[in-house]
Amino acid sequence: MQHYKKVLPNMEALCLEAARDLLRLIQQSIDERGSFHIFLAGGSTPENFYKLLATSTYANVIPWNKINIYFGDERNVPPDHPDSNYKMVNTALLNKLSIDPTHIHRIHGELTADDAAIAYHNTIKVLAPADENDTPQPDLVLLGLGPDGHIASLFPNTDILNKRDTYCAAVWVEKLKAWRISITYPVINNARNLWFLVAGENKQDIVDRIFNHASILEKLPIERIAAKGQVTWYLDQAAAKWLK
Ligand code: 6PG
Repeated sequence: MQHYKKVLPNMEALCLEAARDLLRLIQQSIDERGSFHIFLAGGSTPENFYKLLATSTYANVIPWNKINIYFGDERNVPPDHPDSNYKMVNTALLNKLSIDPTHIHRIHGELTADDAAIAYHNTIKVLAPADENDTPQPDLVLLGLGPDGHIASLFPNTDILNKRDTYCAAVWVEKLKAWRISITYPVINNARNLWFLVAGENKQDIVDRIFNHASILEKLPIERIAAKGQVTWYLDQAAAKWLK
């Protein structure tokens, strides 16, 4: 497993670099396997990335008919709710594309969290590419990073962190007083490529901890990743302030 860190001057440069890399990765995946399966993240940093992909420079050259889009997590709300990750991605990107709706696999946040998680586990199992052990193997999982070290909806001190027998689970997040639905480590760790999009001063401390003071005692969700594929960090200078 290789870790690459790319530090860019600002959010715009970060998104441009990730978009350039995405074009190459999509082409490589299609050349090798005929398709590209990506799990999208929620959050404002990924949202900026999606808005760039919706511009003609990218939207017109990405072969959307070869791409299947999944979601790394969702809030337990309907798809038209302001908090919905699907709504955010649809507004920023999807509704600006002519993409076959059967290529878009959203988490059904309108269901109970448990039902949505069970349904999405099955969606991943049936539709996502798998490795020789029949474990889902996305071509790319995109993740943001919370200041508390959460990724997707894998929040510190929640039981979902120990879920290894399912690809998607419901999780009650006490500090948010809300249910979330999230993919689990088996899917994240098995991705061929794992990208983190991290920007802003409010991320400099968590980035410092991860790269300079990794804890071996109380590991945060981000520190519990054991990725088998290639990990690439896209950081702006603000978030990367304490990186050597
Ligand atoms: C969500 C995301 C969450 C997000 C991080 C980073 O549903 O909100 O899955 O994990 O990616 O909190 O978000 P920002 O980039 O907005 O800080």
